[in-house]
Order: sequence, then structure tokens, then C-alpha cells
Amino acid sequence: MNKRAFIYFGLVALLLVIVIPLWAFNKDGSESSSPEKVAASDEAARQLFVTNCGTCHTLDRAGTHGVVGPNLDDRLAAAGPATDQAAVDATQQRVMTAIQQGVGNGAMPAGILEGSNAQTVANFVARVAGQ
Ligand code: HEC
Repeated sequence: MNKRAFIYFGLVALLLVIVIPLWAFNKDGSESSSPEKVAASDEAARQLFVTNCGTCHTLDRAGTHGVVGPNLDDRLAAAGPATDQAAVDATQQRVMTAIQQGVGNGAMPAGILEGSNAQTVANFVARVAGQ
């Protein structure tokens, strides 16, 4: 290999090693389209929602667009502003009831989540619905 070919090869290798991962990384970063930002402390709850509820329900802050069940932003926001603790508590209880008992004769099955996972998701939904 003469020197020029060697340099040329080096440049191409550099391009592959640096530019392509950068491009892929940037592409990833621009995926901000759907999920609204949630606090880092809410990320686990958001993931639980996406996995267990998001296929059926739209919730803007979770970035889900399910249409099998009602849009939870619309359905739950009427309960009151999420800054009012009493309203959040009431909505959380309403979501817990939906999770524990199911809704609409099995249209939403009972017990999709249990225990602390159910509480975590119910609290998250109660705080972010309608925002
Ligand atoms: C298989 C689809 C499906 C999944 C998964 C699902 N739901 Fe539902 N959900 C529904 C349907 C359908 C309804 C409305 C049923 C009706 O009104 O007859 C509903 C209704 C609700 C309601 C409204 C209850 C009310 O008081 O108005 C809430 C809240 C709710 N779901 C929360 C959740 C949460 C939280 C999860 C995840 C743990 C979840 N859902 C998972 C289908 C689903």
C-alpha cells in the first residue's frame, strides 16, 4: 500500500468509526416527537404505563396513542387541576379502581398491574393526565 492509499484508507475508516455512530446518535436524539418530557423520577412509572396501558390508552405525557380505551387526558382531566392534591388523590383512586376491577365487562381486564406497580402508575396518571 503506498502512502497516499494508506492515508485515504485511514480517512475512510475514521469516517466509519466517528461519523456513522454520531449520525445514529443524533437520529436517536431527534426522536423527541412523541413523549413529552417527564421528570427523571417519573421515568419508571412512564415505562410501566407505556408497557401495560399505552397500547390501549392515549396519554400525552407518556407519549402513547392507543385508541382501544378512552383518551385518559380527556377522560380524567375533568376531575380537576393536577396541582390540587385532593383532585390528584381522587383521580389516583379512580385509576386504581379501574386497574383492580377492570372496566366495561372486561373491555379493560382487571388486574393488569398489582401492588406497588399499580399504585405507581395510578399516581403517575393522576398527576399528568390532561397536561
Ligand atoms: C386491553 C386494552 C386496555 C388496557 C391494556 C388498559 N385499558 Fe384502561 N380501559 C380500556 C377500555 C376499553 C376502557 C373503557 C371501558 C368502558 O368504558 O367500557 C378503559 C378505561 C380506563 C379508565 C377509565 C375509568 C373511569 O373511571 O373512567 C382508566 C382510568 C383506565 N382505563 C386506566 C388504565 C390503566 C392505568 C391501564 C394500565 C395499567 C389500562 N387502563 C390498561 C382498555 C384498556
